Amino acid sequence: MHVFMLKDVITVRDISREDIESVIREALERKKAGPQRLKPELLKPELQGKLLASLFFEESTRTRQSHERAARNLGMDVCGFAGIEGTSVKKGEPFIDTVRMFRNYAASLFVIRHPKEGAPRYAADVLDVPVINAGDGCNSHPTQALLDLMTMTEKLGKIDGIKIALVGDLKNGRTTHSLLQALASFKNISVCLIAPESLCMPSHAVEEFASSASSENIITLAGSLQEVLDKVDVVYVTRIQRERFPEGIEGEIEYQKVTKGYNITRSILEGRKAGIMHPLPRNKHVLEIHFDVDQLPNAWYIQQAENGLYIREVLLRRLLSGSSSGIVGQAKTENGNLRLWQDIPIKDGQKQGEHFLYRLDNGTLIDHIEAGYGHVVLHVLGLQEQMIYARDIRSSRFGRKDVLGFPEKELTENELRLLALVTPRATVNIIRDRRVIRKGKIVLPSIIEGLVVCPNARCITQDDNYERVPRKFAVESQEPLKLRCHYCETPFGREGLKFAS
Ligand code: NCD
Repeated sequence: MHVFMLKDVITVRDISREDIESVIREALERKKAGPQRLKPELLKPELQGKLLASLFFEESTRTRQSHERAARNLGMDVCGFAGIEGTSVKKGEPFIDTVRMFRNYAASLFVIRHPKEGAPRYAADVLDVPVINAGDGCNSHPTQALLDLMTMTEKLGKIDGIKIALVGDLKNGRTTHSLLQALASFKNISVCLIAPESLCMPSHAVEEFASSASSENIITLAGSLQEVLDKVDVVYVTRIQRERFPEGIEGEIEYQKVTKGYNITRSILEGRKAGIMHPLPRNKHVLEIHFDVDQLPNAWYIQQAENGLYIREVLLRRLLSGSSSGIVGQAKTENGNLRLWQDIPIKDGQKQGEHFLYRLDNGTLIDHIEAGYGHVVLHVLGLQEQMIYARDIRSSRFGRKDVLGFPEKELTENELRLLALVTPRATVNIIRDRRVIRKGKIVLPSIIEGLVVCPNARCITQDDNYERVPRKFAVESQEPLKLRCHYCETPFGREGLKFAS
């Protein structure tokens, strides 16, 4: 059997196609056995009496109930809360204190839903037991994507080659973000996005799908469902997420504007094969799917919700059997690659940067800064004083450049990293007695901690949450710079840099 190597289920990005397929295969087998409690011979003794902490800091019906039902079917106990009303969260308790407390009650697996993006990842970093992300803000909902793909496999026999329209609130709907990421692992997928302009799929999600491993995957936009209804196998409808709009009258007006025109009715579907999916709940005031669709063979959303139970049973079993048999994949925290310098040979210590050396007996000379970025470097390093500055001068290698010199100063590691973030191609020269004694480019580690602030206002790391989560970013590329928040997964480049104070 394929070995499931994940410690946690936080994002679809961590789950391979093989894992997705093997989870679905097992869930389909479980479904054949029926929804009743598992037969005793199927129960894993090591799961008996284990405790699931089901922590829902946000509303839920299906996701919570199916995880809890699945746990009980496997012989586990369940504790936790459904919504923060009546909990000490209301008294200002930090997220991580609440989580740790359930670990003290011996919970051996956590299912966490939270309005702040990245909260489940933060818990997974702190806990020594598995965490399942049951939805974090608008970011992701990985187990929903698995049950969505299970439903498509069940109905269409395979996922490769699927043509699907994603409809509704593609900006705030976390289920569509995870589904799109999951589909990117398959072949010949055609995705069509249909959303009001203000609720369209984030551009980074579209780009990631378009650059996914399979070049035959295509993603397009359409103005209305009618345009594509005959061309797709699946229409994945989502609720307009009212709770993600601002409170008050302005938010309400904005919401009312975008809820019009996304209603699927029996008459639209007349004679059409496309299966209708929806993560549910649908909204009775809007009826993005009309009641009269429920009886049609196109209404896949009922079975879709049922499939959640089986997917979650498989996940609980695998996560718990994995850790108890010592199969713990995914390093808890990656130790950043600590190599800082990429040395460049020094040809003649006195000739290197000779125009500046006469003014710099000892110190640091930063060369090859992109023209116009010298002042940004100064600002970020807070080193306006004691410097030598040449602006927009000719460079044989880059056309134009800025150069900075700091007499009697060696930059700290953090200062060098900040420099590389702002101007990744810069070369740093260390000067002693008018000779360059070391020259190099700064190599960013694979993870940077602190230094910058996540650009996503809904991220758990933002100061206004008062959660004091240590900031952490994966460096996906240095040139051009591409960072990704370790928690909420938001990618950003140099233009999105905001420095930590
Ligand atoms: C979705 C969610 O919470 O993200 N529901 C679910 O988990 N099945 C979608 C929604 O709330 O609209």
